[in-house]
Order: sequence, then C-alpha cells, then structure tokens
Amino acid sequence: MSQHFTTTNAGAPVASDQHSLSVGTDGPISLTDHYLVEKLAQFNRERVPERVVHAKGGGAYGTFTVTNDVSAYTRAALFQPGVETEMFARFSTVAGEQGSPDTWRDPRGFALKFYTSEGNYDLVGNNTPVFFIKDGIKFPDFIRSQKRLPGSHLRDNDMQWDFWSLQPESAHQVTWLMGDRGIPRSWREMNGYGSHTYQWINAAGERFWVKYHFISEQGVHSLGNDEASQLAGSDADHHIRDLYTHIEDGDFPRWTLYVQVMPYADAATYRFNPFDLTKVWPKADYPRIEVGVMELNRNPANYFAEVEQAAFAPSNFVPGIGPSPDKMLMARIFSYADAHRYRVGTNHAQLPVNAPKNADPHGHSYAKDGAMRYSFASPETPVYAPNSTGGAHADPARAAESGGWETDGEMVRAAATLHSEDDDFGQAGTLYREVFDDAARARFLDQITGHVGAVVSDEIRERAIQYWTSVDAGLGAQLRAALAAEGAPIEAGEPGTAAEPVQV
Ligand code: HEM
Repeated sequence: MSQHFTTTNAGAPVASDQHSLSVGTDGPISLTDHYLVEKLAQFNRERVPERVVHAKGGGAYGTFTVTNDVSAYTRAALFQPGVETEMFARFSTVAGEQGSPDTWRDPRGFALKFYTSEGNYDLVGNNTPVFFIKDGIKFPDFIRSQKRLPGSHLRDNDMQWDFWSLQPESAHQVTWLMGDRGIPRSWREMNGYGSHTYQWINAAGERFWVKYHFISEQGVHSLGNDEASQLAGSDADHHIRDLYTHIEDGDFPRWTLYVQVMPYADAATYRFNPFDLTKVWPKADYPRIEVGVMELNRNPANYFAEVEQAAFAPSNFVPGIGPSPDKMLMARIFSYADAHRYRVGTNHAQLPVNAPKNADPHGHSYAKDGAMRYSFASPETPVYAPNSTGGAHADPARAAESGGWETDGEMVRAAATLHSEDDDFGQAGTLYREVFDDAARARFLDQITGHVGAVVSDEIRERAIQYWTSVDAGLGAQLRAALAAEGAPIEAGEPGTAAEPVQV
C-alpha cells in the first residue's frame, strides 16, 4: 500500500494524528483545532439506528442461475431459462440486538436482493416456512413480547408465553422455533423460505400462486442447547465467522430454489386459506418444482456500507411477480421502505448495495432531492409527469405484469375463516407427530419444559400447557408431568381440552 498523509474530510493535510492543539504541552486545548472537532463530531455520528428487528446479521454477494424452465408460470426476467443474476443475501437473528449471540434460539432472517435487468427484486424471508401471526397489526405487540421488559431491560418468558398462548395462531411457528431448527448450526446449513404466498404472472398474463423454498445443498443441521449456549459465550459471532471464512476459503454455499405452484382458481376452494402465513401447503398437494441455484461467493468489502446499510423491501417486485392477499405481506409492503427512510435515509436506494445496478442505474423515477441526493438528471429533464417535453411516461400496458385478484366486500376487521381447515393447531400437531422423529420429539419436550418452566405466573404457565395440549393431547400431558417433576407449581388441568381462543 502506498504511503499517504492524513487529511481532513475536506482533503487538507493534517499535522498530527496524536496531539490536539493546546496552549503549552499541558494547557487547555483550543476550539480552533478544527481537525479534533471534526474527528470527534464524525465519531459521534458513526452509527445509524439498528434495525428494530433482525439487528444482528451478516451478508454476502452471489449469483442466482436458472436451471429449469418455469417460463410457463412467470415472465420475470430473472427466472427465464439459463439466466444468471447477481444478488446479495443477508442472514440474521430476529429479537437480539446488534451485539447479541448468533446462537440464541430464534428464527433466522433469509433476505435476498436480486439485481435483475428489470429492477431489483427483494425476497425477504426466514428459515421457517410460516410465521407467528397472520395480521400485521399484531407485529409490534408480538415483537415487544419477545424483546425486553421496560423496567429491568431483561427478556422475559412470562411475556413470551403470555403473548403466544393468547394468540393460538402462533402454535405452528412456535413448534418450529422450539424444535431443532430453532438453532441452526450455521447460516449455510439452513433452508430459506419466502414464507408468504406470492403471485407469478406469465407472458400470456396467466396468474399462479407460488411459495419459494431455498433448500440448502450443505444439508440442514442444528445445534443442541448446550453447544449453542457454550458458543454464545465463546464466539458470539459464530455464524458471521462461519459464512465469512467459508467464502474466503472458496467453499461457496449453495441453495436450490424450488417453488410450489397453485393454479389461480384453486385458492377459492382449497381446504384452508392459501394466503394464511401460519400454514404450509403440503407437498402432496403442490409438489416442489426446481427453479435454479443460488451461490454465495463474495464477501462484502465493508460491513457498514454494504450489510448495515442494505435495505431489503418486500415492496420491491419486478414484472411477472406480485403480492397475494396475505394481510401480513400487505403490511410489510408499507413497513420496510418506511424503515429504510428512517434508518438509512430517503435516498437509501442510491447506495451501491441497494441501487438497481443491472437495470438502468439512474432509472427514470421522478423522485428528486432529499438528504444526501447525489445522482440527478440533466437540467432539461422535466421534473413532473405528464409533460410534453419528452420526459419519461408510465406504460399502462405493463399493469397486467404486476398481477392482482378480484375482491369485493364490506370493510371489516376479522380473520379470514372461509375455508374448512382454517384452524390454528392442526399443522403444528402434524409437524410434531409426523415430521419430528422420536429423538426430535424428546428434545422438543425437553426444550418446552425448560422454557415454560421459567414462567413465573401460574396462570400463564397453565395457558401454555393448554396451548400444547391443543397441539397434541399426549404432548400436553407429558409437559404437565415434566413440569410437575421439576417442581413447578402446576394447577390440576384437564388434559385434552383446547385453549379458549381469546379475542383481543
Ligand atoms: C426486518 C417489519 C414480518 C423477515 C424487518 C424490519 C422491519 C420489519 C421494520 C427492519 C427493516 C430495516 O430496518 O431494514 C415487519 C413487519 C412484519 C414483519 C411489520 C409483519 C407485518 C416478517 C416476516 C418475515 C420477516 C413474516 C419472514 C417471512 C424479515 C427479515 C428482516 C426483517 C429477514 C431483515 C432484513 C435484512 O436483513 O435487512 N421487519 N416484519 N419479517 N424482517 Fe420483518
């Protein structure tokens, strides 16, 4: 590296990296030492607000290569046969703050940004195919119950089980969370899911409902509680380190993308609401179809510029892909871009990690000005539309490419219950009984016994037992017995009775 002299931010040479300007060697420092002032003031402004959720994470660049022909389902450029697209991925925990251990039990974020030729496409998913709630109005309450008490600033099992047991729709995701997948061994060794149902639109304008599954080619491996706790102390950044070092060593992780495709008309008559984020679509009903391979092969050169300032938004769609009537997804379509305007700034899309680098990089958006704006159109370009001076104009012919659906009805505040199997506990029970093996079921019981056992309130503990009884009567009875054996004061309950759904 060639030798340079230190400069101020304005580029002028600096006389000392070591000594402030002072009156005599042990006298007071001078406010005219503008370099000292600049250095301290800049330091005070080094942080931007951390993400309100998913604050701790790491990321890498890579490529997505299409290996199959799914053009019958979508016209999106990035999913056409043989196309290779640059992309960026960020993985994260949800509830922990920036310095928190990577190996705490939590869902993991699986956020992807594809720099396609038609603009950036963001798929902001998790390592679980479902979620805790099905209406975005509950999200701030849910997250607060998982974070810290306002007084002691401690995380609290009573808050967590109070919320979950009052929201039976959480049962499926809590079963995933308390099961083995709640602590992945590394980010490389977990699957990713779009979780929501999305819409795909083909070149003929035909519409389909899809779910995305990124299956790890490294296999799915988890950590046990003891190993995870030990790593939380000895290497809090275990998952960041694992991803970074594997990529540095040329051992690039890969995931195969599959989609489940539901014909548009099936949604109305399917046995449960296919837009319910607490449900999976059984593979027997909608088998997985291969799409392509994602490989991560380049580490960012600067964590702050490229990972901390990365802004993934479920509202970033491209032609051929659109939303579905999932209320959670619709809430997220507002929430993320708003978070980016607050956290990074109104012009966050200009930053290299966020810019649509493979579409026209300057685009033809009419957005202008705002803090830190540095790209701009020539002075002759009109700043309003419509105009008669040759400025960009929207193309109504493209409306069909973003999809849509028919809807009509009274404005209500109510959950969708039009389908025969819209219950909260069924798929959680199936996961416990049919997907977990005996050993996984034993670890699961052990995990929930410890977690519910730390609840102080008798009422909340009893509600948690009823919650698991509703998932599986045998599991509820085992939990009750295990808690009693550990000396937790348990009320005599009625095994097999379902928790009363509570209206909130
Ligand atoms: C991050 C809101 C549900 C996955 C975030 C952020 C917000 C947010 C505000 C921080 C964004 C930022 O500062 O850049 C919400 C709301 C939800 C919701 C309001 C429900 C209505 C979900 C669901 C998933 C998810 C269902 C997964 C299926 C993520 C991921 C990140 C994130 C992966 C981190 C993105 C990154 O790496 O930068 N969420 N979220 N969220 N959320 Fe959600």
